Amino acid sequence: MTRFGLEAQLKIYAQGLLPDGTKRMWPIALEAWREQARERLAVGPWGYLEGGAGGGSTMAANREAFSKWALRPRMMRNVEDRDLSIDLLGTTYPAPFLLAPIGVQSILHREAELAPARAAAERCIPFLVSTVSSVPMETIAQAMGDAPRWFQLYPGRDPNIVSSFIQRAERSGYSALVVTVDTTMLGWREMDLDNAYLPFLFGEGVANFFTDPVFRSRLSESPEANPQAAIQEFLSVYVNPAFTLEDLADIRRQTKLPLWVKGITHPEDALAVQALGADGVIVSNHGGRQVDGAVASLDALPEIRSAVGDAYPLLFDSGVRRAADILKALALGADAVLVGRPYAYALAVGGQAGVTEWLHLLLAELDLELALAGYRSIRDVDRSAVTRVSR
Ligand SMILES: Cc1cc2nc3c(=O)[nH]c(=O)nc-3n(C[C@H](O)[C@H](O)[C@H](O)COP(=O)(O)O)c2cc1C
Repeated sequence: MTRFGLEAQLKIYAQGLLPDGTKRMWPIALEAWREQARERLAVGPWGYLEGGAGGGSTMAANREAFSKWALRPRMMRNVEDRDLSIDLLGTTYPAPFLLAPIGVQSILHREAELAPARAAAERCIPFLVSTVSSVPMETIAQAMGDAPRWFQLYPGRDPNIVSSFIQRAERSGYSALVVTVDTTMLGWREMDLDNAYLPFLFGEGVANFFTDPVFRSRLSESPEANPQAAIQEFLSVYVNPAFTLEDLADIRRQTKLPLWVKGITHPEDALAVQALGADGVIVSNHGGRQVDGAVASLDALPEIRSAVGDAYPLLFDSGVRRAADILKALALGADAVLVGRPYAYALAVGGQAGVTEWLHLLLAELDLELALAGYRSIRDVDRSAVTRVSR
């Protein structure tokens, strides 16, 4: 039970009593974090973080979809003590959100994935480590101690590398496997094309491959001796346009870890994945980075929830920016959400300290938003919490 939001809020107001109390070290509004991130990053990394596929219409739709739903606050319900915790596949987590897998974090801050990993670990919020992390998965695991971490797998062209990654994740204490199925190739990203910027070509985001014995066995010279050849080899194996449901079934057979499938927006795909024995689905369009003109992730969510049934675990991402978005996604059928770009802005602004502060603010906002919407427990937020509006 918590009164966390109120305490955090009063502490910030109390700073206003100090002589220079209005000069905060960190931004409050997400827009301000984003603006500072944009100022700090060179155009290439900024475009990589911010860009969407094609004309950006999916990315825009992700945000617009949230404005088509409004919360229906309820009053007079004694919301003095709140509980933000949730259960996912038998494990209790302190809040209804996780940090989404975001690759190549070295282009955002020199601390790279170690920053959000440590910030998330302090609060026991799960951190999802990307296949294309800048720091090897074992090093991130070590930095997190016993805190929850999941490994996100791009099922690439070489099944032996895929198996090796799964085994490494199991050995280094990752408690779930997330297979991302929407990235069998990179989307047509106009900002990156405009900047002629692909971080992998600079040797960023290849750490899991360069440290992998199976990947290394494919090379005639080591990545240290000939990095360019290793990068070319990476580009030829890290994703697989020929990926099918059969390949997913093969991954399912290889591990006892809970298996989540990320990147689903069609109810029939969700049903296929459920039938195959995946433990849950992550409704996501990759933040609009893959298919232009696609359905907003939030618009797909209710349909998928009704297809898979009430009990099947569903996570959601793409467009979550604030506490209100989290409540709306939960109301429309998600068990929890993944937050993506917002923590990447905080990372770019201030490394681990920045992500720690941003997390603190999001938790405080969520605690107050939940209470003021009339709920004591996040678990009580259901379809009746929202209404469809035309905006
Ligand atoms: C810069 C960037 C890199 C990403 N890298 C990965 C990745 O390596 N693996 C993955 O499954 N998703 C990746 N994603 C997608 C996120 O996990 C998540 O689906 C997305 O950020 C949600 O959209 P939002 O941030 O606009 O809310 C990436 C997203 C961004 C913005």
